[in-house]
Amino acid sequence: MQKKRYAVCGVSSRAIYMYIGPMLRQFKHCAELVGILDIDPLRFQVCKDQVPEAKDVPEYLAADFDKMMAETKPDAILVVCMDRFHVDYIVRGLGYDVDVITEKPMTTNTADALKVMEAEKKSKGNVICTFNYRYNPVHSKIREMIVEGTIGKVTHVDLNWYIDIKHGSSYFHRWNRMRENSGSLSIHKASHHFDLVNWWVDGVPEYVHAFGALNHYGPNGIFNPSKKDGRHCNECEEKMQCPYKARWSTRSSSIFAKDDHINAFEGPKKLFTTYRPDMCMFDSEINIHDTFIANIKYRNGVLLNYSANFSTP
Ligand SMILES: NC(=O)c1ccc[n+]([C@@H]2O[C@H](COP(=O)([O-])OP(=O)(O)OC[C@H]3O[C@@H](n4cnc5c(N)ncnc54)[C@H](O)[C@@H]3O)[C@@H](O)[C@H]2O)c1
Repeated sequence: MQKKRYAVCGVSSRAIYMYIGPMLRQFKHCAELVGILDIDPLRFQVCKDQVPEAKDVPEYLAADFDKMMAETKPDAILVVCMDRFHVDYIVRGLGYDVDVITEKPMTTNTADALKVMEAEKKSKGNVICTFNYRYNPVHSKIREMIVEGTIGKVTHVDLNWYIDIKHGSSYFHRWNRMRENSGSLSIHKASHHFDLVNWWVDGVPEYVHAFGALNHYGPNGIFNPSKKDGRHCNECEEKMQCPYKARWSTRSSSIFAKDDHINAFEGPKKLFTTYRPDMCMFDSEINIHDTFIANIKYRNGVLLNYSANFSTP
């Protein structure tokens, strides 16, 4: 079998455990990792420590994207960096007529999405945005039951997403907490949920009406131990007065939470040069929402009422 050649733009936690590791292990018979690129050289080390099979993969800093494309000649690039930069790599990759596989969200705003659509029209390459949530067995089963007609015609979807305080707060410690980086959680996170409903009901949204608010995090969050900017959880003196953190600092082993964002949380080992992923969830710079609701009417008549809350214990 001819192996397909991939280069990874953004050596994120996601890239390491979801793409780089699997490509060099389970999928090594059909995939070849030809290059990795990031703005932060520390990420190459983190990656190679976690996936020793990647030790000889060439490393490129972001400014060397063209050099990487020329030297490694990938068939496709994987875009797995901070959301706001997806558009840059997608458009540049399409300029080389290669396929682009991008993490969700494809872009963080409409203007960038239009740029991608224009670039795709001019390119021989295609853009695939990975909506992995469809492959959760429960989600696939729902789709199967709808397609088979088991539950009849779907006319109304009521989807309320409750995100626990560990997973929920993780977004407020990291780059995701700035709208300019992630498009806010109504895009960064809810894109998964909207993708699910669009797919389940086989519909295209026609009218959308939404509200959002920042209630739990940010300086006015009611559990903020004190109004101070610039604290970091790992050395925070107020940690035990912070109910979000104290909740997980119990001696009882019965309390355990696992999700795919926690491994980015910086412990004693430094994982990023450019920023700290343990910034305080009560900082005043936070400009995204933690609560939102939306009403959506689909072209095929289906009505959706949606809500998400990022602080539901
Ligand atoms: N589909 C899912 O379920 C899922 C889950 C987690 C993350 N993600 C997506 O994966 C991507 C990475 O998220 P993460 O939480 O693992 O990130 P992370 O914080 O672990 O890493 C972000 C990386 O982007 C790099 N970066 C920043 N600016 C860059 C630039 N201009 N060029 C190249 N690299 C740059 C950083 O140095 C860092 O290595 C995001 O797009 C996120 O939305 C998807």
